[in-house]
Amino acid sequence: MRLRALEFFSGIGAFAQAAPAHNIEVVAAYDQSEWANLAYEKNYGLKPVSRNLDNISLQSLPEADIWWLSPPCTPYTRRGLQRDLDDERARSFLHLITCMVERKPPQIIIENVEAFLHSKMHGLLNQALLTAGYYCSICHLNPKMFGVPMLRPRLFIIATLEPHILSTPPVAPHQSLASIISGKAESIYDLFLNDEVADKYEKVLNVVDSDALSNPDTTLICFTSGYYQCRKASGTLLRTQGGRLRYFSPTEILALLGFDASYSLPDHFSLPICYRLLGNSVDVRAISYLLKSLVEVSDK
Ligand SMILES: C[S@@+](CC[C@H](N)C(=O)[O-])C[C@H]1O[C@@H](n2cnc3c(N)ncnc32)[C@H](O)[C@@H]1O
Repeated sequence: MRLRALEFFSGIGAFAQAAPAHNIEVVAAYDQSEWANLAYEKNYGLKPVSRNLDNISLQSLPEADIWWLSPPCTPYTRRGLQRDLDDERARSFLHLITCMVERKPPQIIIENVEAFLHSKMHGLLNQALLTAGYYCSICHLNPKMFGVPMLRPRLFIIATLEPHILSTPPVAPHQSLASIISGKAESIYDLFLNDEVADKYEKVLNVVDSDALSNPDTTLICFTSGYYQCRKASGTLLRTQGGRLRYFSPTEILALLGFDASYSLPDHFSLPICYRLLGNSVDVRAISYLLKSLVEVSDK
């Protein structure tokens, strides 16, 4: 059976990337970022509804079997000052919680950072879902579980009107970083850090040598939206054979996140824009694993 999904906070469309393999069609996507929406439309041919979700009307949302939500994580992170429910960036998600318990889509998946688990927002969400009759479970997933040596721990909340059991994630064989990124350093960008920036931030940068990419112990740290600005712990840089530091390219990061080789960001996007969008996105393999479990529930 083909399932219909709504993708909220759609960004560059990690959910839309995973969905077709599970016979799921995204019938509408929503995001306020014009950049994200351009990338989404270029790759999926569907134009996301470009608006602030703070006050979207329930009546305007089409019927769907699955709601996927990937709301901003900053209200729950230390860098975002953990203002939680008091953060105005949490308003859209709060509004969508009221929408979901009124509409009651059969399946809901919510993605966020691990710190979300201890937030007041999570308490409120959980209470609302249980009161509305949902079965809820929590899943912690990381690219390493899918064989990719990269840190990107994420929390997923799964809520279904029918009981569900998530299968144990498969123990995936290790994939070499060198093979994942091979041939994906696109030439349209100058990926090298200028020496001044490299010297200034040297102490806080996480760097791997290109020779170490085939080493099974080498692990990349999470690429975040602050990668281009070289913020502390914002993503790994690569020391090339000649000793210079370069960023991982957008295409390399897409591959590390599990996007298909045919996915590409529009050519006119600058590197800071690309990294902002990629830093916000989600591991496609993690979504795929969850969808596989949920589609099995729907098929019963
Ligand atoms: C964590 S990112 C989700 C990224 C997405 N899952 C992907 O695959 O790339 C959050 C997204 O929500 C969007 N967003 C944040 N606040 C919003 C709001 N109030 N209304 C609509 N979109 C919003 C941002 O533009 C961003 O793309």
